[in-house]
Amino acid sequence: MFRNKHFTAIVLAAGKGRRMNSDIPKQYMNIAGKEVLYYSLSAFQESPVDDIIVVVSQDDIDFCKNNIVEKYNISKVVSVVAGGTERYWSVKEGLDHASGTDYVLIHDGARPCINQDIIIRSMEEVIDSGACTVGVPVQYTIKVVDDNNVGIDTPKRDCLWQVQTPQSFLYNDIVTAYEKMQQDNYLNITDDTMIMERYLNKKSRLIMGDYRNIKITTSEDVLIADVFLRKQL
Ligand code: CTP
Ligand code: MG
Repeated sequence: MFRNKHFTAIVLAAGKGRRMNSDIPKQYMNIAGKEVLYYSLSAFQESPVDDIIVVVSQDDIDFCKNNIVEKYNISKVVSVVAGGTERYWSVKEGLDHASGTDYVLIHDGARPCINQDIIIRSMEEVIDSGACTVGVPVQYTIKVVDDNNVGIDTPKRDCLWQVQTPQSFLYNDIVTAYEKMQQDNYLNITDDTMIMERYLNKKSRLIMGDYRNIKITTSEDVLIADVFLRKQL
């Protein structure tokens, strides 16, 4: 069903990993025997996506090409490009190198536990609705607090989802949204579905991700990802 359309995965790995406080940037840390970035590249390599663009820091381009893409023979990688100072600038760089594609799946390289089900569901849904993100229903009670940390509201849990990646869009739509964002000064943005809402007035459908599809942010996450990744081996 994916043959008539071209799908590009943009994998983001240009962050500094400040909250990890490690010597090696978190995307290159070794977990369960391989580099963090290897796992998501390998998942896209095995999936029906047509090609992969990897966004890394300027200084890491050669390292990434030699020590990950070539070492593991990730042949769907068509470009390894330099990212920007904020996540959305890294996405913009990826988009600039994906011209001509029909759909993009934008994924955090810091989420190594992505699997084939997540990728296929994203591809099916973006064909249907043009904009979607994977996520999971929240399992905790969430409080809204005021400036003094006093709880002022308890939103109904069944309408709260925690957002993950990939986030998938029609290529022309997300490019237009980014062009509009650039003309604006309000850049307090945390993900691409927000950019679509704000600048294209287009809503994204949430589809089921996986509770294991965590983002590696701090050292606790390394321990958890190690368990999940070893189970998959
Ligand atoms: N990212 C990126 N370019 C940036 C910032 C982030 O490509 N300028 C990527 C990261 O490499 C990561 C994903 O976006 O795969 C999610 O970002 P986050 O978890 O915040 O990673 P870092 O920004 O590296 O970490 P921190 O915020 O702790 O510095
Ligand atoms: Mg960050």
